[in-house]
Amino acid sequence: ATSALLDRYGRRIDYVRLSITDRCDLRCLYCMQADTRFLPRHQLLTLEEMARLARCFVELGVTRIRVTGGEPLMRRNALWLFERLGEIPGLRELTLTTNGTQLPRFATALKAAGVTRVNISLDSLRPERFKALTRIGELSKTLAGIEAAQRAGFERIKLNSVILAQQNLDEVIDLARFALERGLDISFIEEMPLGDISDHQRTDERCLSNIIRRQLEREFTLLPTTETTGGPSRYVRVAGYQHRIGFIAPHSHNFCADCNRVRVTAEGRLVLCLGQEHAVDLRRVLRAHPTDAERIKQAIIASLELKPRGHDFAQSGLPVVQRFMNMTGG
Ligand code: GTP
Ligand code: 5AD
Ligand code: SF4
Repeated sequence: ATSALLDRYGRRIDYVRLSITDRCDLRCLYCMQADTRFLPRHQLLTLEEMARLARCFVELGVTRIRVTGGEPLMRRNALWLFERLGEIPGLRELTLTTNGTQLPRFATALKAAGVTRVNISLDSLRPERFKALTRIGELSKTLAGIEAAQRAGFERIKLNSVILAQQNLDEVIDLARFALERGLDISFIEEMPLGDISDHQRTDERCLSNIIRRQLEREFTLLPTTETTGGPSRYVRVAGYQHRIGFIAPHSHNFCADCNRVRVTAEGRLVLCLGQEHAVDLRRVLRAHPTDAERIKQAIIASLELKPRGHDFAQSGLPVVQRFMNMTGG
């Protein structure tokens, strides 16, 4: 079945990223302020409301849901929501993006709930640098999470590394080797300028994917492939290994023409593009018409009129969007 959700540019939306909390146990430099204030509980959708909203999306033809945060596993009773999402008829893929720290507790249960693919953020393999990049994190906890995910036996595990020129560009080969030798995919990500972060200068840090690729080519033979997960990542295969390296390059390779996705924030705002402000308050509709799925579906369909053609990340690298990354989970 093809999705009924069609925007003004003819793009079909069959993928939703559901941010279930803005909270996180890390404070990644490029994601949020050091002193971020998180949202008060009453502003968040309840998990029950999220499950209801997810059903509406699937009834409209969405086949894939990725749960994000903040750190999604920091939300109390997150597992209850995964179990509800896993039961929705017609949902073909349930995935999770996480920083990994809570996976030792949750990995097995997430797999049982129907999560197939897990993406885990890992920007450094050096404990001090990991701490500096996450401001408060401990590398050993994320590594334990990766091991727990592997033991749980997900179909596919991908690492995500945001590469900053002044911070971790020299680790690209080590990160790739770490992933490939463990049977994991890895994506290298160009930083996106969301939110104004006072102790982090984005313009100095930008590192384009051709620079990353050149680093990798010193060590690996990269082979072209057309494989895709349907998202913005472009993959290569690596001679001698089974797994893939991906590049998510909003600055050097614009993928907006193929966009298939929208996002819901933890407050129930439908965000139509990661790199723009256009959004619709679905919480208001959910609370005004709690049992009226048709009203909610109408609101979703109508909101697609607002989906912009693409992001508008200024070449200067200065933030064009007020919202921080932890509101949408990327
Ligand atoms: P799938 O598409 O589900 O395979 O996963 P993904 O790799 O897109 O998702 P993940 O949560 O691992 O995000 C990796 C990076 O891709 C993050 O930095 C996201 O912000 C970025 N990303 C995902 N979707 C989009 C998008 O539509 N636009 C932009 N600009 N970035 C995106
Ligand atoms: N630019 C690019 N990627 C980011 N992420 C968080 N903030 C940014 C940013 N400003 C990444 C995280 C995680 C994914 C969901 O988004 O590292 O892997
Ligand atoms: Fe937390 Fe992910 Fe943001 Fe890092 S990027 S602070 S792990 S939400």
